[in-house]
Amino acid sequence: MKGIILAGGLGSRLYPLTKVTNKHLLPVYNKPMIYYPILTLVEAGVKDIMLVTGGNSAGDFMRLIGNGKELGLKQISYAYQEGEGGIAVALSLAEHFAGGERIVVVLGDNLIEGTIKPFVERYRRQKSGAKIILKKVPDPERFGVPVFSARPRPEKYSGSGLGGKNNKIIRIDEKPKLPQSPYAVIGIYMYDSAVFEIIKTLKPSKRGELEITDVNNAYLKSRNLTYEILEGWWTDAGTFESLSRANNLVAEKIATTDKH
Ligand code: DAU
Repeated sequence: MKGIILAGGLGSRLYPLTKVTNKHLLPVYNKPMIYYPILTLVEAGVKDIMLVTGGNSAGDFMRLIGNGKELGLKQISYAYQEGEGGIAVALSLAEHFAGGERIVVVLGDNLIEGTIKPFVERYRRQKSGAKIILKKVPDPERFGVPVFSARPRPEKYSGSGLGGKNNKIIRIDEKPKLPQSPYAVIGIYMYDSAVFEIIKTLKPSKRGELEITDVNNAYLKSRNLTYEILEGWWTDAGTFESLSRANNLVAEKIATTDKH
């Protein structure tokens, strides 16, 4: 399985921090933001990755990461996204790299406390399709939000893929004003090679982007999407508030690990 990290976009929500550098090069406590998604993949055993970047300072990623050996990667490839056409556009640039293999996609501003290893292992055994990961959050309206066919009690099914028959995701809403569940679809996705054909059929959303949520909805339509519930904290780091939260969470994690 190959890994793809999406670190394009303009980071306009963090302006002026992103005026001269790329959002994913900003510090999160003691590391540049981009280290975290790389280490998430390495820890899960995914060590051949492509980094899709763009906007300001794209060359700085190569200066920072080089061949990736220091971070535990076997190999790293780079792609450049022009403009900010959306997450699905950035992903489409990795089609040739994926070469028909299955992929784990991580958004460059997503940080987790724990591991995705068991999910990746279960996805390897899934015949085809996609897998997404959910996390309960206090502010689902900021994210992709799953709508369940029955009253949402996914905790009960943690780790068991599609869960019970009364607990299916029927739709994912992107940043809904009235979220239908308290869950966010986090920015870590697993796809088979059909994903690139799906992206070719997408139309721009109201915000003018090709949305990853539309990709996931296409997999749902063909009944080929499983989900997992993440343990431990998860945060994005794309706004001042979430960047500050990410710093604090990492600091706390390091402090508790050091104590033991
Ligand atoms: O963090 C999880 C959320 O990420 C999901 O719940 C949403 O469904 C998904 O749409 C996305 O929401 P955001 O609006 O927060 O995504 P954002 O535009 O901040 O982009 C997240 C990362 O994706 C960013 O750090 C880099 C990458 N990206 C984004 C765009 C728009 C690209 O590589 N290229 C792009 O054109």
